[in-house]
Amino acid sequence: MEFLYNLIVVLHFVGLASLLGGFIVQMKSPDKGVNPAMLHGALTQLVTGVVLVGLLESDVLDDEEAPNMTKIGIKLIVVLIITALAWIGRKKPAPQVGLWATIGALTLLNVVIAVFW
Ligand code: HEM
Repeated sequence: MEFLYNLIVVLHFVGLASLLGGFIVQMKSPDKGVNPAMLHGALTQLVTGVVLVGLLESDVLDDEEAPNMTKIGIKLIVVLIITALAWIGRKKPAPQVGLWATIGALTLLNVVIAVFW
């Protein structure tokens, strides 16, 4: 089971790379907006995050402490907002600078929460 947990953690980082990479790659573009990498990255973070919590809650890891549900809850709310914004923006014509910037800022917020909390 530890292998499965670690595999999902790897996918959690792949989702982060896709979401943040899709944001950063448009930094100099005049047509900033929501690209498929951002939408798919957001969905990946949502799914892998929920699976990770499910695995932690089912005590599959021997030495893991219980997850901090306040932290997890806030990350979940943030990712739901990111996913909703990415879904709304996915077919809107560029530029969508406001959507692009908000998704990028919320993604960085979740990284900071994940690492510092
Ligand atoms: C944009 C959304 C998200 C980002 C950028 C993100 C980022 C991260 C990062 C950087 C880590 C590694 C931190 C560390 O281990 O010190 C992490 C771990 C984790 N995340 Fe997320 N996350 C997101 C969404 C979520 C969601 C929605 C959930 C749950 C509902 C979640 C649950 C977890 C869990 C349980 C871990 C611990 C993995 C471990 O270290 O064993 N994440 N996340």
